[in-house]
Amino acid sequence: MQTSDSRTLPGDPRAAFVQFEHVYKSFGEKKVLFDVSFDLRPGETLAILGRSGVGKSVTLMHLVGFLRPDKGRIFVKGQDVATMSEEQLTHLRQRISLVFQSGALFDSLSVAENVTYAISEKHSLGDEEAREEAIKYLQMVDLEELVDLYPQDLSTGHKRGVAIARALAAQPEAILYDEPTTMVDPIQSQLVAKLIRRLHDQYQLTSVVVTHDLKLTQRVAERVVLLEEGRVHFFGTRDDFFNSSDTLIREFVKSDQVRALQQAAH
Ligand SMILES: Nc1ncnc2c1ncn2[C@@H]1O[C@H](COP(=O)(O)OP(=O)(O)O)[C@@H](O)[C@H]1O
Ligand SMILES: [Mg+2]
Repeated sequence: MQTSDSRTLPGDPRAAFVQFEHVYKSFGEKKVLFDVSFDLRPGETLAILGRSGVGKSVTLMHLVGFLRPDKGRIFVKGQDVATMSEEQLTHLRQRISLVFQSGALFDSLSVAENVTYAISEKHSLGDEEAREEAIKYLQMVDLEELVDLYPQDLSTGHKRGVAIARALAAQPEAILYDEPTTMVDPIQSQLVAKLIRRLHDQYQLTSVVVTHDLKLTQRVAERVVLLEEGRVHFFGTRDDFFNSSDTLIREFVKSDQVRALQQAAH
């Protein structure tokens, strides 16, 4: 049975976890997304690449219904996000966790309290219970030894790791990372990449990684969307992306290598 909310295209589109179909979005005069289409398969890690301001975060905001397209449709597991009630949207945002760029933690709370913050809001947990729950999720990112520390004691990479553990505590079906390695040094970036990779390999977590870090893309992504001037310039496998002879892709890859060299020199 199909309902009016569900899509009925041939080729079983339900197989896609997320489907963007011809999405357009403007803010006033400013056209941000222009005919954006791509899909995300269950268990896959998809990188969304593009220069700063191209619409990567705006794309993520559409995926969890914080923004609505002017035109086009976005389906999550076959359901059109635009037709979801507030209650369904709340449920959607529990199923799809967002890890923001800042990975903001509460400074006055311990790592354990930060990780269990959302769970504790729903069910009151005793201190020891909260600590045990926190350890469970910290183990998933291999950081259980941080459980009794405070954010001020953590490196940037570890802060990002704790933010990821907090996202996992919501037991999501998918996780969206917005620039997880921005402002993180190369060694810490490698740690973040390892975490994302591990969550994919070990738990088959469906993931979207918004970034302009090509090393991270190389390490974690199976497919790549490259946005340019609001359009999808490339959508395909990671290997096809890195082997592409397309001028714009070559330029994008080169500019990232220059940036990496500059960072290493500092
Ligand atoms: N809520 C909003 N209102 C108006 N303009 C916005 C809003 N959100 C994003 N924009 C604009 O949309 C463009 C894309 O933003 P964004 O998706 O954040 O870029 P990035 O690719 O760096 O993540 C930017 O020009 C930004 O200023
Ligand atoms: Mg952004």
